[in-house]
Amino acid sequence: MVIAIDGPAASGKGTLARRLAAHYGLPHLDTGLLYRAVAARCIALGRLADEAASEQAAKTLDVADLDPETLRTAELGEGASVVAARPGVRAALLDLQRRFAGQPGGAVLDGRDIGTVICPEAPAKLFVTARPDVRAERRFRELLGRGEDISYDAVLADILKRDERDSGRSSAPLLKADDAVLLDTSDLGIEAAFAAALAMVEARRG
Ligand code: CDP
Ligand code: CDP
Repeated sequence: MVIAIDGPAASGKGTLARRLAAHYGLPHLDTGLLYRAVAARCIALGRLADEAASEQAAKTLDVADLDPETLRTAELGEGASVVAARPGVRAALLDLQRRFAGQPGGAVLDGRDIGTVICPEAPAKLFVTARPDVRAERRFRELLGRGEDISYDAVLADILKRDERDSGRSSAPLLKADDAVLLDTSDLGIEAAFAAALAMVEARRG
């Protein structure tokens, strides 16, 4: 069983993906980490603006190299959305994601284009969303907890800019797949969101 979860920044998709993967005993891939890792390599080389450098970084990326601790910074979220708009970068990361989804028994993947491009045949698709102010509050608390020196207003501005870039790009824009179930977590705690997501997946499985 493949479970595809998409949605904008801090909508709660990663939390749901991890919980669903644990519940069903499936491997989980946070595909945002791939783009964050590409951005990290480019920034380290001082070449974020260089399209060829980002494609090269994407081609040589290894899932085993992904360290959420170092990759979940505000700077790399922004950098990820810059490199993610480049078709060559997306193409270079396609096979790796499809192989992950094709493991025997299935997998859970979360990102922006899982239900539309990476796993269009997935039986269970969720599109997770929440109001921008709620998402900004969640991400603000998360980044504060990581020790980042950042304001709520800066986080909200970053989220809105990223939403626009991710939705407006021509290559695999952030879009709800026609057959994805919409889940708005604005007024849901983590447990309530998980219960709703589980019910949706079970309905699709049945
Ligand atoms: O956790 P958050 O939603 O803030 O970000 P993320 O999932 O780590 O993704 C970072 C950026 O990578 C996004 O803003 C997208 O630009 C890009 N991304 C993408 O284009 N496609 C995916 N499947 C996953 C992430
Ligand atoms: O993966 P994505 O960027 O969509 O979001 P996440 O990492 O799952 O969630 C972002 C933050 O919001 C985390 O600190 C979660 O614990 C929190 N969260 C929440 O407060 N309520 C929810 N219903 C879902 C997530």
